[in-house]
Amino acid sequence: MTVELTWYGHACWGVETPSARLIIDPFFSDNPKAPIKVDEVQGDYILISHGHFDHLADAALIGRRSGAKIISNFEIVSWFQEQHGLEGHPLHVGGGHDFPFGRVQLTIAHHGSTLPDGKPGGNPVGFLLRLEGKVIYDAADTGLFYDMRLIGERHPLDVALLPIGDNFTMGPDDALYAVKLLEPKVVIPMHYDTWELIAQDARAWARRVEEETQSQCVVLEPGHSHRLT
Ligand code: NI
Ligand code: MN
Repeated sequence: MTVELTWYGHACWGVETPSARLIIDPFFSDNPKAPIKVDEVQGDYILISHGHFDHLADAALIGRRSGAKIISNFEIVSWFQEQHGLEGHPLHVGGGHDFPFGRVQLTIAHHGSTLPDGKPGGNPVGFLLRLEGKVIYDAADTGLFYDMRLIGERHPLDVALLPIGDNFTMGPDDALYAVKLLEPKVVIPMHYDTWELIAQDARAWARRVEEETQSQCVVLEPGHSHRLT
């Protein structure tokens, strides 16, 4: 049984399991790095970490077209129900649920979460996914926090997806420290190079990760995948 993670640039991921296709933080139309058009995106579930446009801009379109269910915090799921008539499953920080495809638990993230129309989007979150026996942590947009140690201790991680772009999230130095706290088998950087403001040298960061930690660092090009077997 395999789980395949495909990076669409920024914080946007496709996660394919034998039983479901998940889209995390859908951002295709206005994402200069997106390797495919939003019309080509297929999903059964859409996971949304917080209310900012670069994490949910295409959720309504994909949800309406494909009938994908929204998984997010209570405020964001309610907003999609009210504004767009989409079905969803609300969770909140610390809570998890066993879906037909696997488990999703919400973690803390230090960031904002105002929705595109100015409504409050609850607390921003990260995702802890347990799929086919593999554990994936998507930190989403966040600053560094010491409880990352707790996440890695409680749930030994196969893969961690970490922002390295700086300015809006952790930068390379803090993200390197996050790897030391989380101790994942594999770390993949994200939320960089979308715009000049968050340009980073991911390959240089990968060398630091491999010199200073036990984790393997995989740098993906947009449209490329990492397979967990
Ligand atoms: Ni954000
Ligand atoms: Mn963002």
